[in-house]
Amino acid sequence: MTAPDGPQAGDVVDPPTGFVTQANVAAAEAASFDAPWPDCWAAAADRLDWHRGYDTVLDSGDGGPPFRWFVGGELNACVNCLDRHLDERGDDVALVWEGHLDERVTYTYRELFDEVNAVAAGLCDLGVGEDDVVTTYLPSMPAAVAVMLACARIGAVHNVVFAGFSADALATRMERAGSRYLVTCDGYYRRGEAVNQRRRADNARMALPYDLDATVVVDRLAAGSSHTEDGARYDDLLAAHEGTTVEPVPRGASDPLFRMYTSGTTGEPKAVTHTTGGYLAQVAWTTERVLDVDSETTIWGTADLGWITGHSYVVYGPLSLGATTVLSEGSPDAADRDRPWEIVAANDVNVLYTAPTVVRSFMKWGTAYPEAHDRSSLRLLGSVGEPLDAETWHWYHEHVGGGDCPVVDTWWQTETGAVLLTTLPGVESMRPGSVGRPLAGIEATVRDGADAVCAPGERGWLSVDRPWPAMARELATASDWGAVADAPERWRYRVGDEAVVDEDGYVTVLGRVDDVLNVAGRRFSTAEIEHAIVQVDGVAEAAVIGRDDPDIGTAIVAYVTTEDGPAGAAVARDDVDAAVAAAIGAGSTPDEVVFTPDLPKTRSGKIMRRLLGDIANGEDYGDTSALRNPEVVGELEARQRE
Ligand code: WTA
Repeated sequence: MTAPDGPQAGDVVDPPTGFVTQANVAAAEAASFDAPWPDCWAAAADRLDWHRGYDTVLDSGDGGPPFRWFVGGELNACVNCLDRHLDERGDDVALVWEGHLDERVTYTYRELFDEVNAVAAGLCDLGVGEDDVVTTYLPSMPAAVAVMLACARIGAVHNVVFAGFSADALATRMERAGSRYLVTCDGYYRRGEAVNQRRRADNARMALPYDLDATVVVDRLAAGSSHTEDGARYDDLLAAHEGTTVEPVPRGASDPLFRMYTSGTTGEPKAVTHTTGGYLAQVAWTTERVLDVDSETTIWGTADLGWITGHSYVVYGPLSLGATTVLSEGSPDAADRDRPWEIVAANDVNVLYTAPTVVRSFMKWGTAYPEAHDRSSLRLLGSVGEPLDAETWHWYHEHVGGGDCPVVDTWWQTETGAVLLTTLPGVESMRPGSVGRPLAGIEATVRDGADAVCAPGERGWLSVDRPWPAMARELATASDWGAVADAPERWRYRVGDEAVVDEDGYVTVLGRVDDVLNVAGRRFSTAEIEHAIVQVDGVAEAAVIGRDDPDIGTAIVAYVTTEDGPAGAAVARDDVDAAVAAAIGAGSTPDEVVFTPDLPKTRSGKIMRRLLGDIANGEDYGDTSALRNPEVVGELEARQRE
């Protein structure tokens, strides 16, 4: 094990007794399945309400992709999240919204059902039909949840675009999805500044090669502020359809529930489509078993709805179980330092699910903030998105959880839809710095370059060796799957992460090994950022790499050459930032831009990004004789020291 912040020998924390006695899964037998794979997954599907029962758990054709889960089954995700709870807990709180301006709004299941139905009726009125793609471009707010569930109700496919993305990024994601419907807002506050979202949405519409069929605008900043000329007002839509109930459309288990774009290894956003049956089954199952949520639980997942965590563990997981979900606008480490703990205390939050970067911010602020508030409602702490190093783990455990909440470090991806690796909180001991083992029903290994399973302690690629229900549809056919060398009838998915496994099967994830950067738990594509930078007048070439950063995991560093010789003469750093902000969003601008006369290249002219990464990280980069221009290395090192 070479990672400095991975698990330390002997650092093992058992689940607290007080937690075990109430855990949804408390015993080893309950954690495993009776039935062999893939039939074991029937247990997850059986927790859902189906319009028509499925015939087969998994259809894997002739052994390989495409894989289809719960074949023959029909269900509706909105019914599972709302309708089925109305009788028993219609008056229980489904959703609490903690808005950026200290707003707190609650919705009971009945109230959310009513709003979702009115929105569904409104969308139908605007012409939205089954399988149409409806894009939302909204901050995390109740209307965004209502639109997601309304789409699910009528069999439309939602495509949530993170509100911080630029107009260009929105247009690309709409066009690629063939989306003709947009729900946006007048504006919103981001880190204290008003963002004119309506204008950005208008710019995106102009950038599209086709006209939209309908736009709906939500008043986020000021009532009545949204224009109505070329868009319907969300409030008008609600008023017009108040009290309407829309018949839910039964969807096939493999029918798309939503589309989402993430960063892949190319310059284009990567489409990920999640299914109605497999996705919902595994998301509900893991919310219950891993995050220990039931209908009495209040969970606060701090992720924005624009990311997969917002979909799976803020909306679909908690609501499918009849729990109370807390939706917060803006990142908890962007605002007032007391606010996170006020949210916990005011809502009696039982489960806090956040990212290591957020916990590291809390850590820097100091223990006084959590200590000043009542955190006795907390029962479990979760982490997702990037490696949770041992030091942060212990701080989270002790200073947020008071030493008696299990910490679950959950590994998964946009593509996997739901958690695949973690520790079951009432059953397995935790090893700070390590994620844990594959959940029952999941088979994952760490493999070397030759595809052989690595010995404990040996670094390799994390690979998932069998399909799982919440897998994205794209993975059912994509080249991400390859035949397993030592089992020709089997297939495996290379996730793009490097990992190491210990003697007991606990996996420590070290980070991405492809051209995807993980910055503060968010995914960025180096190619996409490079593409934006080379659009700047005067820029010749750009290479983007990640530099290890103690706070945000990875910092974005861009190496840039300019057309007119002397480095940086004609191009300003601000131009680079502006180009990236316009193409992707302000959150993607590089933390550092290094202007350089040349980039290290192989003899065939390929930029050696690995070498740049090693230089930026102060690592030994070894032999440079394969370079066409080895002299550039000394130059870059000199700049690094400046
Ligand atoms: C990283 C977020 C270490 C990993 C749900 C993965 C993690 C990428 C963890 C997916 C974890 C996620 N420990 N690394 N617990 N969870 N990652 O698609 O590199 O935004 O491939 O999904 O985040 O990011 P995505």
